[in-house]
Amino acid sequence: MLDKTDTEALQREAFRRDVLDGLSRPTKTLPARWLYDDRGSELFEEITKAPEYYPTRTETAILEANAGRIADLFGPEAVILEYGAGAGIKTEIVLAALDRPGLYVPIDISGDFLKASAERIRARFPELAVEPVTADFTADFDLPGDLPETGRRGGFFPGSTIGNLDEREATAFLKRMRRHVGRGGVAVIGCDLKKDVATLVAAYDDAAGVTAAFNLNILTRINRELGADIPVESFAHEARWNPATSAIEMHLVARHPVRFSIDGRTFAMAEGETIHTENSRKYDVEGLALLVEAAGWRMDAVWSDERGLFALVGLVAS
Ligand code: AVI
Repeated sequence: MLDKTDTEALQREAFRRDVLDGLSRPTKTLPARWLYDDRGSELFEEITKAPEYYPTRTETAILEANAGRIADLFGPEAVILEYGAGAGIKTEIVLAALDRPGLYVPIDISGDFLKASAERIRARFPELAVEPVTADFTADFDLPGDLPETGRRGGFFPGSTIGNLDEREATAFLKRMRRHVGRGGVAVIGCDLKKDVATLVAAYDDAAGVTAAFNLNILTRINRELGADIPVESFAHEARWNPATSAIEMHLVARHPVRFSIDGRTFAMAEGETIHTENSRKYDVEGLALLVEAAGWRMDAVWSDERGLFALVGLVAS
């Protein structure tokens, strides 16, 4: 078993590799998962409350309005597998609606985060058995072998994190979740829908500048953790719509020519050159149905809001 220091050292090395590799490419990129250090996670929490960022409050309202139907899909004594623990109030809405849930299994790469959210759920639902699993849900992993064989197994993947995965990763994730729930299994996933570009861009470039701070924070993290000297103030946040990939892209744009060094390596960027830090893909229900079908699921239900901004879909293993 790896202890916390080993895990941190491995993470630091993976971060260093990803940063040096991503910034050495002709089109500079950084994997979005590195946006979430402690400060990044705090800023993301703040984003979810920004007036322009409609996904979180819309998804929460859809869950509240359809909790009974979602609970029916999971069925009595269900074993709930939540991919990425810590959806907070959204998880609580679902757990509160379930008929005698058998077990709640939050899955997250961050052990600390997982512990804190498991504690919160235990305090709110003292009768519910909780078995946290520390794992990166974007890579293959096995569930503990001793899960109860009570009701159905049900995956829960809210938040539209599916949109942060490219098509290959999303298909691999959906197949993994399909394998985890087994025959007769079900799942509920949240997905942000395609809509007018102005609404989308505003959601990723809020007037208060919280998303900008979230994006720029990755540079501060590189400076702190990798001993780099990136002049953070030389970069500006930009959210842009890419119609070819149906994604909102976050970029860090060099305001003027910049040079910096990371771990003894020097990088130069021209004015206007960008570092691409995140994709947030938007789907329509038909496109999402095709994606899930290719991974062994049938879309059984669609729950959405009046304006069609966001959808939660109920999936059944096919
Ligand atoms: C976590 N994920 C679903 C968010 C999204 O909307 O793609 C991350 C985010 N990035 C900027 N704002 C929010």
